[in-house]
Amino acid sequence: MLIAPSMLACDFRHISREANRALQAGADWLHLDVMDGSFVDNISFGPDICAAIRASVPADAYLDAHLMIDAPDHYLPRFLKAGMNMITIHVEREGHIDLRTTLAAIRTGGAQAGLAINPATPVSKLLPYLTEADMILVMSVVPGFGGQSFMEHVLDKVRFLDAQRTQRDLHYLIQMDGGIGPRQAPLCRQAGADCLVAGSSTFKAPDMAAAIRSMK
Ligand code: DX5
Ligand code: ZN
Repeated sequence: MLIAPSMLACDFRHISREANRALQAGADWLHLDVMDGSFVDNISFGPDICAAIRASVPADAYLDAHLMIDAPDHYLPRFLKAGMNMITIHVEREGHIDLRTTLAAIRTGGAQAGLAINPATPVSKLLPYLTEADMILVMSVVPGFGGQSFMEHVLDKVRFLDAQRTQRDLHYLIQMDGGIGPRQAPLCRQAGADCLVAGSSTFKAPDMAAAIRSMK
């Protein structure tokens, strides 16, 4: 299981130190939650902070940017320039932006392309795009804030997506994000998830390495 600590839960006074603390504690990826105050009810940070994190960590560190923003197509070049390895956009922007074109542009830009789905959105919305994504992110909270409770019903989506990739011989990763700690990790794994985002349960743990180990 890949574990991706969310920088949203780190001590923002020392972002660079916190990024390296997570990597030294065994994080596989670092998850960067980008929020624009419109797509979600919170504002976090943008491409310049992502670039600063890139510059703070070893060159082989894998940076996973989760764009909770209205116009990921418009801002995409800036996140590519900031050196993100995975860039995830939300399926809820269908009809406002061309998801297929944006996913293709992420890949052309040299990153992997992720597609996220909120708890309230039916999983069928993803079906036209499953061949275009390197990763599907199943949100297990309403995005916007760390520290919320895990919504167990989204595990049905993970099971469905796991079955789809077997049936259709697809190879996307399944990531889950929100309210995940050592208690939820086994449920996620049994449902078919490959990568877990964890904010509070990693950065705020008394022993981050132990928390990551127990989720892996
Ligand atoms: C929610 C974010 C999550 C969040 C996870 O909007 O996408 O990545 O920070 O934090 P925890 O693990 O605290 O729920
Ligand atoms: Zn996230």
